[in-house]
Amino acid sequence: MAANYNSVPPTSPYGSGDPYYNESSGYITPHNPPKKKTSGWIKFGIPVALIIIAAAVVGGVLGSRAARNKSSASSDAAAAASASSVKKDIGIFATGTDSLYGLPLYPSTTNSAAYSSPTFVSTTDSSLAWPQDSFQPSNPSITAVRPDRPRLIAPAYKWAALPNLIANDPYMTFWNQTIFMNATIWYNADPVPYIYDGGNGILDPARQVKQRIKAFSYCYRVTNDTKWLDRTWVELQNSAGNLTGGWGPDNSTKWNPVHFLDTAELTNAYAIAYDWLYDSWSDDQKSAIMWTMITYGLNAGAIGYSDNDPMYYGWWTTNTQGNWNCVCNDGLTLGSLAILNDDPTGVAEQLLAQTIPNALANCVQATSSDGTWSETPDYWYFGSTGHAELAAGVVSATGSDLGLLSSNPNLYLSGLFHMYVTGPGSLFHYGDNGVNRYTATANALMYYGLMYGKPEYQLFQRDQTDAPDPWNMFWYNPTVSGAFWDDLPLDHYFSNSIDQWASMRSSWADENALYVGIKAGTLQGHQTHNDLDVGDFVVDALGTRWFGELGDENYLVPGYFTSDAQDAQRWLYYRKRTEGQNTIMIDAGNQNVEAAPTVTFDTTNTTQGSTTVADISSDSTAYFVGDLTSAYFNTTSLKRGIRMINGRKQVLVQDEINAQASVMWRAHTNATVTLSNNNQTATLQIGDAQMVVELQNAPSGAAFSTMAAVRLPTDPPLPAGGSDLPNDGVTVLAISLPEGSYTLEVLMSPQWPGMSSSSYASPSSVALDSWSLTSHP
Ligand SMILES: *[C@@H]1O[C@H](CO)[C@@H](O)[C@H](O)[C@H]1NC(C)=O
Ligand SMILES: *[C@@H]1O[C@H](CO)[C@@H](O)[C@H](O)[C@H]1NC(C)=O
Ligand SMILES: *[C@@H]1O[C@H](CO)[C@@H](O)[C@H](O)[C@H]1NC(C)=O
Ligand SMILES: *[C@@H]1O[C@H](CO)[C@@H](O)[C@H](O)[C@H]1NC(C)=O
Ligand SMILES: *[C@@H]1O[C@H](CO)[C@@H](O)[C@H](O)[C@H]1NC(C)=O
Ligand SMILES: *[C@@H]1O[C@H](CO)[C@@H](O)[C@H](O)[C@H]1NC(C)=O
Ligand SMILES: *[C@@H]1O[C@H](CO)[C@@H](O)[C@H](O)[C@H]1NC(C)=O
Ligand SMILES: *[C@@H]1O[C@H](CO)[C@@H](O)[C@H](O)[C@H]1NC(C)=O
Ligand SMILES: *[C@@H]1O[C@H](CO)[C@@H](O)[C@H](O)[C@H]1NC(C)=O
Repeated sequence: MAANYNSVPPTSPYGSGDPYYNESSGYITPHNPPKKKTSGWIKFGIPVALIIIAAAVVGGVLGSRAARNKSSASSDAAAAASASSVKKDIGIFATGTDSLYGLPLYPSTTNSAAYSSPTFVSTTDSSLAWPQDSFQPSNPSITAVRPDRPRLIAPAYKWAALPNLIANDPYMTFWNQTIFMNATIWYNADPVPYIYDGGNGILDPARQVKQRIKAFSYCYRVTNDTKWLDRTWVELQNSAGNLTGGWGPDNSTKWNPVHFLDTAELTNAYAIAYDWLYDSWSDDQKSAIMWTMITYGLNAGAIGYSDNDPMYYGWWTTNTQGNWNCVCNDGLTLGSLAILNDDPTGVAEQLLAQTIPNALANCVQATSSDGTWSETPDYWYFGSTGHAELAAGVVSATGSDLGLLSSNPNLYLSGLFHMYVTGPGSLFHYGDNGVNRYTATANALMYYGLMYGKPEYQLFQRDQTDAPDPWNMFWYNPTVSGAFWDDLPLDHYFSNSIDQWASMRSSWADENALYVGIKAGTLQGHQTHNDLDVGDFVVDALGTRWFGELGDENYLVPGYFTSDAQDAQRWLYYRKRTEGQNTIMIDAGNQNVEAAPTVTFDTTNTTQGSTTVADISSDSTAYFVGDLTSAYFNTTSLKRGIRMINGRKQVLVQDEINAQASVMWRAHTNATVTLSNNNQTATLQIGDAQMVVELQNAPSGAAFSTMAAVRLPTDPPLPAGGSDLPNDGVTVLAISLPEGSYTLEVLMSPQWPGMSSSSYASPSSVALDSWSLTSHP
């Protein structure tokens, strides 16, 4: 029950009448604002306490439920002690990471004793659980900050608890060590050089500075060794331009406010240095950090928020539901909170009155009603990191989320979005993929797990390679126990006003699992990070990606972000064009940007059991059928279906097309492709793995061919000065046909070790309108 997204538990596991339980969704969320409060803000002092109490209840409930594998735990203390010893016995679940994709590898075992339902075990044992925060103001406000330092993200009581928790939790032990290892590398490196990269400004160096300052400040507070304090100071001096050689322009634009992300990330770094090390800086140092941050960061933010913003620093303040709004408001808010009451200029207080309402109207709304990030799966990292830092900073400083976690009632679903968009062969990373991540990780999942009471988010994220992060030392709840996959549905369909996409898989814990991601959705409304990709899919199996995404074009090419209208220059670049996607192309042209597809999705609701080995019955399946007609010109009708067949061992892609112009089926692969003599079968090879792709029941004239992943000779020319990035090693598997009516059935059969050829299914034709959970083997 704890992790079943398709069924609604009849009552709140937190007790009936729980105001933080949504009866219709079945989720525990802190999203129902108390009716009597005119502010509509939730006091996070209350939810935090509730989460602790709730954990006690859930611990009791699940303690007995989890007893299916263990001796019956009669008291919370016994359950906690038992969970703690199980945790120590197992250690870190993942045995390593996949060398190609960096995803965790889990041992293959059907021994269920090791794994149980996701839960937060109830305990007040200070070596196993965070203590309660004593700062619980009755009238929280953005300017009523906690009396002690740090204010931001990691209050003093958490630092005091840390050593004991680290000693008792294998993940925290590992993260602490890794943070020190990384910090030591950066300690010995030169300060981050100033590198200006055209349209991306100084975002990479800004994020590197932030990454280092987080790590150095963490190491100092854990050890009290002044070498870390001194090294933090050097990095601050450097990015203030105070070391020999300077750093950027010697005026108010040093932090490049025309590309405000850069300014925001540096402000964020200074905020952490100022606040976390507050008691260790001299007065002169504190003053220098504050004035540098005001001069290059907060003052630029004030210009961005003013009516008179000639340089357009603050374009992201207006109707921008995406990562920019989160990252920029995050940096300005943390910077302002850090110096509030020390700041003689008033800019901090002025900005706080603007950033919180602005983030509530924009950043907080970037998560759609189903959890999908409205830009792209990769931009989720930037946006959610910004949102989680912002919320965590505000909660720690004021004792309340001030609506940042609760005013979008579906924000808690953001964690599901990330989990389902992650396949065993990397993300289903449709659209643009952003620049280097540095400080943007998936650790928002950890924070959402903590604040929304979702143990499965924490369990998923703690095994990932980006988990060793100073934030996680405070966002992880060490009472978390169990396996994220236990009872987790293998499939999920996401649908909101601008996105429709589905995720289907054969296992959550097997790197060789079969995975399909497919999307329809609108082609506009994604902050111009979209591709013309209705019907686009990815397929993973046997530890690799067979059909995948090409990713970004170079962000600096002309016209890339100017518009997403039909005639936008963006749509001239191969990777953004319909020809660069794994979908149908009509008339060798682009899809209609006004596409409004409709989708049917169904699943047997198969869940993974408690162990890493999913037991899939032969009738377990899921399918997605989209009417994509509106995405095409010259087309009477076009439907695409995709499904898992044969107990999730094969995939069928079926298209029903009636078009008055040429038709081309296209899919991009890193594989070496060999066609059979009649061109009805393509054998794909990646390393030792093989996938057979057959054109079944093919209409006359239909056959596979292969093409280079380059623009077609008939494509309109690129904008002056524009070029396509090369797609080295990528082949397009294609089926080219003249105008007409066709049903194309493409059957994908990964060659599973030990599976005999007679065990593969060759389903007979079923029209898409007749697809059901039982229409295929
Ligand atoms: C964290 O790691 C550092 C470096 O290995 C070590 O000195 C410190 O004792 C660790 N902290 C705890 C609480 O174990
Ligand atoms: C941090 O250290 C880990 C373990 O050595 C390493 O894999 C990782 O690449 C490091 N991260 C960075 C950003 O250097
Ligand atoms: C570091 O200093 C703080 C404050 O004086 C103290 O509470 C803490 O125990 C010290 N930590 C170590 C590892 O010495
Ligand atoms: C700041 O300095 C840079 C580089 O010297 C210069 O190009 C820019 O015009 C200056 N901006 C202002 C606002 O003075
Ligand atoms: C850098 O130097 C300037 C000019 O002396 C000073 O105003 C500022 O406070 C310094 N900043 C830091 C972080 O040391
Ligand atoms: C090729 O492999 C890379 C690296 O794993 C992956 O990011 C990309 O999506 C793959 N491309 C295709 C077309 O599958
Ligand atoms: C799967 O779950 C959904 C949502 O609870 C339900 O509507 C549907 O009937 C279930 N399907 C099957 C085959 O159990
Ligand atoms: C397809 O539709 C486009 C846009 O309506 C039109 O310009 C083009 O001539 C059509 N092509 C064919 C082959 O009918
Ligand atoms: C298969 O395709 C190749 C080139 O792609 C072509 O030369 C050959 O004639 C085709 N074979 C058949 C039977 O159509």
